[in-house]
Amino acid sequence: MYHTKLDRFPNDFLWGSASASYQIEGAWDEDGKAPSVWDNFVQIPGKTFKGTNGNVAVDHYHRYMEDVALMAEMGLKAYRFSVSWSRIFPTGTGEINEEGMQFYERLIDELIRYGIEPIVTLYHWDLPQALQDEYGGWESREIIQDFNDYSVALFKRFKDKVNYWVTLNEQNVFISHGYEHASHPPGVRDRKRMYEANHIANLANAKATQSFRQIIPNGKIGPSFAYGPAYAYSSKPEDVLASENAEEFNNYWWMDVYSWGVYPKTVWKHLEKYGLAPTMEAGDEALLKAGKPDFMGVNYYQTGTFTASPLDEEFGDVKENHDGKKGNFVESGNAGLYKRKRNEALETTNWDWEIDPTGLRIGLRRITSRYRLPVLVTENGLGEFDKLEENDVVNDDYRIDYIRKHIKQLQAAVTDGVDLLGYCTWSFTDLLSWLNGYQKRYGFVYINRDELDEKDMKRIKKKSFYWYQKVIESNGDTL
Ligand code: BG6
Repeated sequence: MYHTKLDRFPNDFLWGSASASYQIEGAWDEDGKAPSVWDNFVQIPGKTFKGTNGNVAVDHYHRYMEDVALMAEMGLKAYRFSVSWSRIFPTGTGEINEEGMQFYERLIDELIRYGIEPIVTLYHWDLPQALQDEYGGWESREIIQDFNDYSVALFKRFKDKVNYWVTLNEQNVFISHGYEHASHPPGVRDRKRMYEANHIANLANAKATQSFRQIIPNGKIGPSFAYGPAYAYSSKPEDVLASENAEEFNNYWWMDVYSWGVYPKTVWKHLEKYGLAPTMEAGDEALLKAGKPDFMGVNYYQTGTFTASPLDEEFGDVKENHDGKKGNFVESGNAGLYKRKRNEALETTNWDWEIDPTGLRIGLRRITSRYRLPVLVTENGLGEFDKLEENDVVNDDYRIDYIRKHIKQLQAAVTDGVDLLGYCTWSFTDLLSWLNGYQKRYGFVYINRDELDEKDMKRIKKKSFYWYQKVIESNGDTL
């Protein structure tokens, strides 16, 4: 679809940026906080790049005022951050740890003081270790009530201050990495357990959403889903079918449940045949249907391109590039369903992530057509090596180019008819990139630290900081 003229972004468009507790806060054991599963997982040798962890991260817990002042200087309209569950309930349940709650209250008040809309993510992967130990975390239905109680505590405390809420961040990622690839906690490789845990997470998501309606009837809530729209590798019908399989198994498997409360039929039938379908108990479907979100949160980084895969195809372990040495793409897939190929039409980052701004528009269009839900882009950005030059300068033109191209596609999507609430880049400051250490940088603000040395953690505005400032100021007219 070509347009002679693109629509302007709505006047109340949420120009934002995002982060997650474990990746920025540090203070991992302060003010009553108990360990999360990530605090422990990173201690296992060989799990993260150069053994990095978030014990100190970028020290946002102590420097949040400086960080919010920078957000205000940039003109951010919204800031998405997550709450660390084990700061609020150190053992996952029970008495509220007031000191933990107060940290987020101070942060929220500071944002509001500058007119920045807080977008609060309830869960960005840092499950209290106590719940993992007690009943296996997401593998037990007990978590549905505990997650609800934790969410309700936050809803009640911040109902007059926070309008936008995100339930689970990238359920598809923390479940598949946690229970299929073993690269995230709890480090399991078992597809049956994965589908069971995923179903329980769906129920927890729906229940928290249902509670939200009672406590904050005028607020907005939705999940943030890591959406990688599927392409066919060629026009051969079998490749088109493979891409349909990938879209159903990797995307609709989650988004249909969020939006409609039902699993896609074809995937369900396939899983039943292989004894992998999750256990449906009485009342589950009704609960899932009661959890309809106000928007689909989308974390977008790349598309995936698929070709047919025969039933007897064997795939090794998924190998991801965690050191930034380009050229490590390894084919992966699901035998009999699809195989992911490198898309030769696209450039890649140094971490082998394909760069595809048009894919963002395609994804938003698919959501709009299928679910008719508004969309909030909850993450999008470029992880790259940055160079700190003399006089505290970081010339990250590649990041500007990346974000500019994605914003242009957003504007095209809005012109196509997508109801877009906002755009949160990933991320505001540099942060810990889970398995990739500190050298894979995403921020508008450079943090002076690396894997081996915490240095002074000075905050340094990159070139992209000034560029995004103008984008916001002009409501997207100046790109
Ligand atoms: C998303 C997560 O998966 O992508 C973020 O929600 C993460 O927490 C981001 O940092 C980028 O991924 P990575 O692995 O490059 O840090």
